[in-house]
Amino acid sequence: MSTPAPAIPLPTTAPLSVAMRDGSRAEHEAAESSAFMATLLDGGIEPSGYAAYLRRLRRVYEALERVGRACAADPLVAAVHDPAIERLGAIDTDLEHWAAGPGATDLDEPVDSPAVDAYVARIEAAGAWGGAYVAHHYTRYLGDLSGGQAIGRVLERHYDLDGAGVAFYEFPAVPKPKPYKDGYRSRLDALDLSEEEVARVVAEVQEAFRLNQALFLELDAELGLSRA
Ligand code: HEM
Repeated sequence: MSTPAPAIPLPTTAPLSVAMRDGSRAEHEAAESSAFMATLLDGGIEPSGYAAYLRRLRRVYEALERVGRACAADPLVAAVHDPAIERLGAIDTDLEHWAAGPGATDLDEPVDSPAVDAYVARIEAAGAWGGAYVAHHYTRYLGDLSGGQAIGRVLERHYDLDGAGVAFYEFPAVPKPKPYKDGYRSRLDALDLSEEEVARVVAEVQEAFRLNQALFLELDAELGLSRA
């Protein structure tokens, strides 16, 4: 009698990229339905309001890009880190368009935003474990390369921009987002993470979405917006 072939263990967890997307579906919907985003997409945000958003994003990306560079040798961070898609320069270019006026583009002026303070602190803490950094990188850059592309096109149309002020949505190094995102997801899926580590990454993605949501709520209050 032959001995039975050893059972091949079935994968117990979804690939990391799927776990991250599925695990943040509800948070994504909440972010999509914020009053700021809805009003922005309707063409109802004043240039100073959009500048207030960009100034917040500027601090978020400054932290993401600073921590990414500092941890670039970490094998988890290396799977996503890509200086060619950094956004800080694009945000500064856009701020010059939206925050026109004497002194308004003074980038050294501190941004008074508890939501940004909390977000930046969380990104800095994520430098302690590459998996947490990956969660923050994914939430912003994959979003920018996904729905962000459509948002950029709507802004151009509604605000009659003719290409000005939307550098944030343009990725000269990524002519086609789909193959880039496919490659990004394959690199995520090739990471050797335990089930528990995958769960930690997903929890950090959810946290990253909540921090973005808090940033939108803060803008809603500052700009006097409410959900329709
Ligand atoms: C009105 C606002 C938004 C709209 C209309 C929107 C729309 C979309 C759409 C249509 C996709 C799927 C695109 C595709 O499959 O290629 C997507 C993906 C994504 N979005 Fe958004 N989004 C919005 C806001 C946000 C925000 C605020 C964040 C985070 C800060 C975000 C993060 C993401 C991420 C990470 C993905 C990639 C999901 C994956 O494939 O793993 N989105 N978004």
